[in-house]
Amino acid sequence: MSKHVPVDQLTPLEAAVELARLAEEIARHDRAYYQADAPVVSDAEYDTLRQRNAAIEARFPELIGPDSPSRRVGAAPLEGFGKVRHARPMLSLDNAFSDDDVREFVGRVRRFLGLAEDKAVELVAEPKIDGLSISLRYENGVFVLGATRGDGTEGEDVTANLRSLKDLPQRLNGPAPKVLEVRGEIYMRRADFLTMNEARAAAGEKTLFANPRNAAAGSLRQLDPAITARRPLSLFCYALGEISETVAETHWEFLARLRDWGFKVNDRIRLCHGVDEALAFYHSVGEERAQLPYDIDGVVYKVDRFDWQARLGQVSRSPRWATAHKFPAEQAQTILRKIDVSVGRTGALTPFAILEPVTVGGVVVSRATLHNEDEIARKDFREGDTVIIQRAGDVIPQVVAVVADKRPPGAEPWRPKDECPICHSHAVKPEGEAIRRCTGGLTCDAQVVERLIHFASRNAFDIEGLGEKNVEFLYRTGRIHSPADIFRLEERHADWLKSQPGWGERSAQKLFDAIRARRIISLDRFIFALGIRQVGEATGRLLALNYHSAEAWRAAMRMATNRDSDEWGHLISIDQIGPSVAGDIADFFAEQHNLTAIEDLVGRLDRIDNFTAPATAESPIAGKTVVFTGSLQSLTRDEAKARAQSLGAKVAGSVSAKTDYVVAGSDAGSKLTKARDLGVTILTEEEWLELIGR
Ligand code: IVH
Repeated sequence: MSKHVPVDQLTPLEAAVELARLAEEIARHDRAYYQADAPVVSDAEYDTLRQRNAAIEARFPELIGPDSPSRRVGAAPLEGFGKVRHARPMLSLDNAFSDDDVREFVGRVRRFLGLAEDKAVELVAEPKIDGLSISLRYENGVFVLGATRGDGTEGEDVTANLRSLKDLPQRLNGPAPKVLEVRGEIYMRRADFLTMNEARAAAGEKTLFANPRNAAAGSLRQLDPAITARRPLSLFCYALGEISETVAETHWEFLARLRDWGFKVNDRIRLCHGVDEALAFYHSVGEERAQLPYDIDGVVYKVDRFDWQARLGQVSRSPRWATAHKFPAEQAQTILRKIDVSVGRTGALTPFAILEPVTVGGVVVSRATLHNEDEIARKDFREGDTVIIQRAGDVIPQVVAVVADKRPPGAEPWRPKDECPICHSHAVKPEGEAIRRCTGGLTCDAQVVERLIHFASRNAFDIEGLGEKNVEFLYRTGRIHSPADIFRLEERHADWLKSQPGWGERSAQKLFDAIRARRIISLDRFIFALGIRQVGEATGRLLALNYHSAEAWRAAMRMATNRDSDEWGHLISIDQIGPSVAGDIADFFAEQHNLTAIEDLVGRLDRIDNFTAPATAESPIAGKTVVFTGSLQSLTRDEAKARAQSLGAKVAGSVSAKTDYVVAGSDAGSKLTKARDLGVTILTEEEWLELIGR
């Protein structure tokens, strides 16, 4: 028997025969083990088969086939997923939200097919699994390709990841068509999801999955199939893609074929004789829903007869022969204990509800969003109220309504505070806007990291080496809290920084040098760096141009906090600065802690250079329209643009007959061609720098 022929004595032909036999035998044991839960060989015997398979493949790598058992787990990580064009598009389903919608669906089917009144329409009703759809291709009974839905036309090749799925047959039982493409849903059972998340939490993983659907999607789309192999993914098959021969006349029969071949088919699926039976199924599944071991979000009805399906065809992206009857979002009643406010990284205040914990759709909910103050007022949510909350799929739980007759005596309408709950700065809600914002900016813990990142960024103080990661690090380790602290870093924390992991003498010194180089800054950058709402680079420049010096600007802004002052009048009279921008500037200067932070910062700088308005009349490019194209060597595109604008030029994005100059860097493309065609003056970077006097 070939089984006993030592691997090193096999001829290539014998090896091929032996590999095929091993593949089949291993697949059979896998099915017995995973699907029937009834292994017929011991683990040791099973291992021997796999080892022999591996040994033969090591000697004859050219014989490793697409269904090799060795490819089921642990293949090398991929660079990225390959693209797969679906032989037939993967469609989506039209939705029905009520019993009437479903009756209407069946009515349409009848009309379309011209069926007599008494002709029954058989429908297959299936739980709609909340996972992600997948296409599985088998050739001559062997699994060869698995792909995600993607945009319906083209998906990603996840074959290697699917090989480790216990529910997926690598080889089909019995005779199979030459080509068979089956579609189904990858999902994660609730219990598996909980166990996996607990294990992740125990292992100190920062990110837990929000729900089984996300967990399934995240686990399948791993570039390393060995990771997917360790995730508890499940599969249900429910549809036909491409097929080379007819194997069934109806969907119901087709599902039976799927089971015979070894696919998992949901055993709750029912064949319904008419719409009433289908609706009864929907309502009974709806009641069972919370107890099911997996998440479902509705019921799918499919016209059973394949010939009718073919006649019905599809409208845009969904078949006329199927529809998804969705469950309403799951709701529950609970008590709204408290209305709290969170502060986002940009200072936006968002009210949220702290709830008496309650289970909604299998998940314990103790917080829910309240959107904004106006919504709270409109729906009159009060602390102590009994409220209805709902959770739909991935969506954050929401508070939808108050149960009016359960309101406790003495419950007061909620009043938003005009104070930030984090830093206690003034929180303002401009007229007509839905969102209240903290004015604390640089002093607010919720915002300070974001603000410091902005402060050090390229178009602001431009401190090289002080990007997001390092700002975050220096803040979390308590080394910088304000912009001024950045300029104190060397003096106070030099030794500490040099001894930090990933830092050393040279890298720390480099950062200190970069910081020192910015002790002289131009006024426009200084203003922009403060991160006042609506004050971008252009406004920074405008303010610098109008106020000339840091002292003058700061003094004027402090006065402008009084809306009756001349300074306020002057501020809003500046072209391009309206009351809204001016209001944000004034609000910023009205806060003592902002004034303190600026004072502190100025004290650490050597000089704030007056931004001298270029004598635009003398500027060779005043009033000219300039277009930059290609990459520039000595300065960035942003710098070049800012420079041109400060010299009175307009910078345009595309070339037209109105363009005066096109500045062409290397690799200039179509804009350059167009400039040539239109006879626009083309300058090299050198010529441009010469023109503007560097
Ligand atoms: S049939 C052309 N059956 O629902 C019909 N889909 O909204 C193809 N789904 O993309 C789908 N359970 O991911 C079908 N029993 C079931 C389903 C099901 C879940 C998903 C599937 C599809 C989406 C459509």
